[in-house]
Amino acid sequence: MPFEPTDRPRRLRTDGIRPLVRETTLDARDLIAPVFIDETIDDRRPISSMPGHERVPVSEAADRVEEIRKTGVEAVMVFGVPTTKDAIGTEAYAEDGVVQQGIREISDHTDAYIIGDVCLCEYTDHGHCGVVEPHAHDEPTLTVKNDDTLELLADTAVSQAKAGADMVAPSSMTDGMVGAIRRGLDTAGFEHVPIMSYAAKYESSFYGPFRDAADGAPAFGDRRHYQMDPANRREAMREVQLDIKEGADVLMVKPALPYLDIVSDVRQEFDQPVAAYNVSGEYAMLHAAAEKGWLDLEATAYESLLSIKRAGADLIVTYFAEDLADRL
Ligand code: PBG
Repeated sequence: MPFEPTDRPRRLRTDGIRPLVRETTLDARDLIAPVFIDETIDDRRPISSMPGHERVPVSEAADRVEEIRKTGVEAVMVFGVPTTKDAIGTEAYAEDGVVQQGIREISDHTDAYIIGDVCLCEYTDHGHCGVVEPHAHDEPTLTVKNDDTLELLADTAVSQAKAGADMVAPSSMTDGMVGAIRRGLDTAGFEHVPIMSYAAKYESSFYGPFRDAADGAPAFGDRRHYQMDPANRREAMREVQLDIKEGADVLMVKPALPYLDIVSDVRQEFDQPVAAYNVSGEYAMLHAAAEKGWLDLEATAYESLLSIKRAGADLIVTYFAEDLADRL
């Protein structure tokens, strides 16, 4: 006689009951779509390593965001590519910087919720996320000057808020960045603007395609001395705790899929909303496999985002936002 199981979880998997017992759902309103605004171009340019994405000139920023909003996604994260770069990332906090112009366009012409990425790496000629020691080019180990960077990050956040950003998202992993930005915003009268901190941001190889898209690859060295070691889990709790103490409103983990244990830890340990950044490499690899006919793009993208939510993320920054929202 064949063995008869006493428990039969399959009873709840038939078509009628499956949706009723589903534990996690995905909604277009959970998603944030990244937008790249490029001051050096007059027409939209596709980003080859990120199929379906493009850099747009300032004049097209609002149109681009309207396309996204039509799919049901209401929030965008804005990145900029400036015409000039220098050692101290002046264009990151210039009143007429590319991101500030773009944010103004978007807030004047759309109802999108605008999040500004606050970092210097797209605006420094050396490509690092802060000010570096003079002559660092010749030194074996690079030092990004932590404390000298803080004021510039605060200025960047304030300039974005002035332009109309609804929220700012510091991504440089500078110690004290959330506190410095909170103080800067409060002093300038933007105490109502929340901070979504890239609280646990890892030094990940999955950022490759983004560095093409935003032209922010470091000219020398790497980001090992400020972004987190992928080997560390407990350290993420410490990073998140610090950001909460300094006033972070939303806590982000980045990347997402290879770091779902961290997303889950942050969800369990803290009560603030948790965000996860499904990064450029996570997007590009599904596209590349789908192009070869090895994976179903839509199904694997959906499963990825569902898993990120299941792990505990409330919101997801993702390049799949538009395409998936259209399907949802
Ligand atoms: C800026 C920044 C990066 C990303 C978001 N903000 C690049 C980096 O840290 O190297 C990566 C996003 C992605 O890969 O999708 N510091």
